[in-house]
Amino acid sequence: MKNMKSIKKAVFPVAGMGTRFLPATKANPKEMLPVVDKPLIQYAAEEAVAAGIETLIFVTGRNKRSIEDHFDTAYELERELEERNKEKMLKVVREILPPEVNCVFIRQSEALGLGHAVLCAKPVVGDEPFAVLLADDLLCSDKKPVLSQMVDVFEYHKCPVLGVQEVPMEDVHQYGVVDAKLSGDRTYDVGGMVEKPSQAEAPSNLAVVGRYVLPGKIFDLLETQERGAGGEYQLTDAIARLLDSQRVLAYSFEGKRFDCGSKHGYLQAQVEFALAHEEVGEEFRQYLLSLDLGGASSTKKAANG
Ligand code: UTP
Repeated sequence: MKNMKSIKKAVFPVAGMGTRFLPATKANPKEMLPVVDKPLIQYAAEEAVAAGIETLIFVTGRNKRSIEDHFDTAYELERELEERNKEKMLKVVREILPPEVNCVFIRQSEALGLGHAVLCAKPVVGDEPFAVLLADDLLCSDKKPVLSQMVDVFEYHKCPVLGVQEVPMEDVHQYGVVDAKLSGDRTYDVGGMVEKPSQAEAPSNLAVVGRYVLPGKIFDLLETQERGAGGEYQLTDAIARLLDSQRVLAYSFEGKRFDCGSKHGYLQAQVEFALAHEEVGEEFRQYLLSLDLGGASSTKKAANG
């Protein structure tokens, strides 16, 4: 059946420095860090494909090779798996993406901020509405995948949608935060936005997480955007200017978020995804139950260098 969805392109900015995960991110983008057996970027790509996205646009940085290789055909590996009759693994590597999905890779020459990374995708996106997914926010839902929920909101209201979540006030300085009024089921009308505010400046505790549905018009604003918080070109600042000309909605998605850009969130994701994993879940549960969580461990030296 023909895909009737209005959002067909998704941008994945994967050119950040990932400094919080050094040295793991010295030669590899943080989006290639695995949660159990899949890299973060694959979870995000699957979420996009489930929402009807047909073109995945990766904005890559200096360590781009592994992401390109991950989504490319690996002929030698496939031949070897075939020769060894590893049918199951062959299926796993062949079915990373459905064949009708296109991947485009664009280089962000310097990590000048998320707004700058998104602007790099302009030549491929053009002026149509598109999605942005930050793969280090790993989202899961028992119901519909989160981007699918947001595309539904976009199609109903015909205006940009920002994925938001309530966060503790002491954490607002890590996020873009919206000034928003509840206007429907899980949806808010956005009146303003601030990137990384102090607690005193924060208009609410509704933080923008890594999912956006944006209009092509955002590129015009990004082109004239000045540097903001941290000296970077901020997507939040361009969206705040978009509010001068159109309605923007915030959507409090149904589901759970793991902030895999931080060590703590990444470790939580590993534990919860491992416990839920068909192959290793039960064994891992038994292992966790056997741990003496209070005791000093022989791994202390290896973990801390
Ligand atoms: P972060 O704010 O998490 O920054 O970027 P970072 O550099 O990746 O990580 P830390 O803070 O140094 O550990 C949010 C998202 O935007 C992308 C990142 O790859 C990540 O997905 N990004 C950020 C870019 O693609 N380019 C940039 O210039 C900045």
